[in-house]
Amino acid sequence: EDSFDEDCDYLFKAVLIGDSAVGKSNLLSRFARNEFRLDSKPTIGVEFAYRNIKIGDKLIKAQIWDTAGQERFRAITSSYYRGALGALLVYDITRNATFANVKKWLKELREFGKPDMVVVLVGNKCDLGQTREVGEEEGREFAEKEGLCFMETSALENVNVEEAFLHMINKIH
Ligand code: GTP
Ligand code: MG
Repeated sequence: EDSFDEDCDYLFKAVLIGDSAVGKSNLLSRFARNEFRLDSKPTIGVEFAYRNIKIGDKLIKAQIWDTAGQERFRAITSSYYRGALGALLVYDITRNATFANVKKWLKELREFGKPDMVVVLVGNKCDLGQTREVGEEEGREFAEKEGLCFMETSALENVNVEEAFLHMINKIH
């Protein structure tokens, strides 16, 4: 992709998963390009973004895969997870159904992903506190029970986005 490939010490693949419209693509565009779109379209198939990160004296190229939350738009699942060292499992704090479905996503992750994958559970859209349906404690407790890291984020207001991705990348490293 660029000359950084030859210089980087590590290449990490990570994946984004979660229901449609929870904000996966906007979390990624915020992290990779500091962009956010209110009118973003549902993802079809698979998209990628890269970001180069320096941790200590190591150069890390993070390759983040983003796919459709909608079943009919998803690409073949096994290839999506292949080689992934980390995952952000995203739900929308204003829609309980997306939190209930986290169990389904975890099942898929454990079926197709590496057993030692670093998983961060992400409650996105924390800027919409007035219409919240999932409590922060609920998210945190579930994550603890399942052995996941946890963070609430807002792609819109750029809250904890960097932290969520960097936490994952640091834990892999
Ligand atoms: P699929 O590609 O269908 O799986 O959806 P997605 O998870 O990629 O969702 P996407 O990033 O396309 O965002 C869906 C909608 O939520 C868009 O209208 C975004 O603008 C909005 N959105 C994403 N993140 C946030 C956020 O942090 N706060 C608010 N208020 N809206 C958000
Ligand atoms: Mg998307």
